[in-house]
Amino acid sequence: MNERDIVLEAKKIEKRFGGLKAIDDFSLHLYKGEILGLIGPNGAGKTTMFNIIAGSFPATLGEIYVDGKLVNKPQSHQMARMGVARTYQIVRPFSNLTVLENTMVGAFLNTGNTETARRKAREILAILKLEGKADIRGKDLTLIDLKRMEVARALATEPRILLLDEVIAGLNPTGRDMVIEMISGIRETMGVSIIIIEHVMKAVMKLCDRIYVLNQGKLIAEGAPLEISSNEAVIQSYLGVKKHAEN
Ligand SMILES: Nc1ncnc2c1ncn2[C@@H]1O[C@H](COP(=O)(O)OP(=O)(O)OP(=O)(O)O)[C@@H](O)[C@H]1O
Ligand SMILES: [Mg+2]
Repeated sequence: MNERDIVLEAKKIEKRFGGLKAIDDFSLHLYKGEILGLIGPNGAGKTTMFNIIAGSFPATLGEIYVDGKLVNKPQSHQMARMGVARTYQIVRPFSNLTVLENTMVGAFLNTGNTETARRKAREILAILKLEGKADIRGKDLTLIDLKRMEVARALATEPRILLLDEVIAGLNPTGRDMVIEMISGIRETMGVSIIIIEHVMKAVMKLCDRIYVLNQGKLIAEGAPLEISSNEAVIQSYLGVKKHAEN
């Protein structure tokens, strides 16, 4: 791939919260059609990076480029309009709205028309095989359907870049497989470029073309899944620790 194919780039990002450097001189780029993994231990700065890319809060230092163009002071509505959609690690649906209505919330980014939004939402629910759940309220959903609905809401904004924050963690093995399949389906059928934050290594290894590993805000490794899983620094700071925690 060459530079023309880069849809998103974050350059030399630093984020300070008071005395804490949550992100320390970290750069990433995302190629068109790629599934990129962002992994690392708790508190590494992964969600903070999504917040910066999605314009939820500004970086202390550094720049964000979309399609090679510098975004001046990124803000969430502006990033959404540029085609960036994200899910939240802690899913906060409108609990009294149905799955269809929650998905329509995403569609309203591009239309003020309720019928158009409903049509878009139904289309996305069909792609994600969630039509059968369309009339269930947010508060009555199981965890897996909550996570799928969160992805539906994000996709209803018709993004080109999708940021998924731990949509697989917490699910049972069957649920994990279902969501892994859903994510590869999204890449194949919708042509979206994706960054996933995930602790479930099986999912990361299966889905990702490339992986960045963060530890205490700093990049410790970047590469293909096989390179990452055998990288000594990654095993020391993350994978080794995880194995103990999981077994
Ligand atoms: N809004 C905030 N204000 C102050 N500190 C914050 C804020 N958001 C994150 N932090 C701190 O920044 C660091 C990175 O947090 P972040 O949520 O990005 O980690 P993470 O890699 O997503 O971890 P996890 O795997 O547990 O979700 C942590 O020390 C966290 O406490
Ligand atoms: Mg996080």
